Amino acid sequence: MVSSVVDPGLSLRFPATPTTPTPDEARASLLVDPGFGRVFSDHMTVASWTAERGWHDDGVRGLEPMTLHPAAAVLHYAQEIFEGLKAYRQPDGSVALFRPDRNAARFEHSARRLSLPVLPASAFVTAVTELVRLDAAWVPDPPATLYLRPFMVATEAFLGVRAADEARFGVLASPAGPYFSGREVGVTLWIDPELSRAAPGGTGDAKCGGNYAAGLAAQGVAREHACDQVLFLDAVEHRWLEESGTMNVLLVTAAGELVTPPLGTILDGVTRRSVLELAAGHGLRPVERPVSVDELREGARSGAITEVFAAGTAAVISPIVRFREPGGEFTVGDGTPGPRTLALRSELVDVQFGRAADPRGWRVPVG
Ligand code: COI
Repeated sequence: MVSSVVDPGLSLRFPATPTTPTPDEARASLLVDPGFGRVFSDHMTVASWTAERGWHDDGVRGLEPMTLHPAAAVLHYAQEIFEGLKAYRQPDGSVALFRPDRNAARFEHSARRLSLPVLPASAFVTAVTELVRLDAAWVPDPPATLYLRPFMVATEAFLGVRAADEARFGVLASPAGPYFSGREVGVTLWIDPELSRAAPGGTGDAKCGGNYAAGLAAQGVAREHACDQVLFLDAVEHRWLEESGTMNVLLVTAAGELVTPPLGTILDGVTRRSVLELAAGHGLRPVERPVSVDELREGARSGAITEVFAAGTAAVISPIVRFREPGGEFTVGDGTPGPRTLALRSELVDVQFGRAADPRGWRVPVG
């Protein structure tokens, strides 16, 4: 693992070099229905790292293509990590982030696991904040948001297999509508019987591109079965619920619990954490424990499991109303989004959009 003693990044300020902005009218039309991940704001945050110099060349500049040597380590050995968080338009017109410290902590965890240099949490938050400040006009009105994508790639041109001595960090900003078009009616998940996302000791708890690349085949199978996403089971017994392709999974039980699989081979999702913290206010006891696919199937059939939902920054809280698997399918509850799911989602998005009090200090204003 790499740890730079040269410039560990505490001095990074990400000074702005503004470019000519997109004209107001063109930007406004892009913000009408941006979809997810296709439209980008005018600027991006950048910083470079080498083992010799540490972090340097930081700034917020016009969005432009990155040039990489074809031997760059990321292109061959997938030494890459990323994050996802959002900026929210507040009722008074200002902009706020949601728990960016959590993303910073996870980015650091992912960097260590992928042998990339650590970016200090304060620099991570400054990098995101300075981009949002410069591109504040790109933050859409609710319910849309400005999705932020910090990432780090190994750029050293070297074909040997070892941690690269050069890396680049960036943040992109992309105005975004809902991740799932069907999230108001609930989504259907494919329970994949054999393709796994992560194994014990692997990178399942790191947010690295390789995990998502490895999940694409199962996502393709899910699509073939007319499902919105895949639900991965554990790699050892193919029996225990892990996470969905881009989100954590949580279940509401008739006994008043909010149950979710424990951390280990899954991502420590910020939305997952947040709803577990909100659970008590909704009369639910948060429980992190293994859940088998048999418990899910039988519980949905018997009524012991009343609601299931997915949680993620992009997906927010998406009700899961149906599961398909090789032997057939089953429905959760009456096949429509459940009341606890909708109440938790309302509370969460009301905090994010500044429509509710924020007793936990989760909102961070972008001054
Ligand atoms: C997020 O929710 O931010 C994610 O990382 C999902 C993304 C891969 C679409």
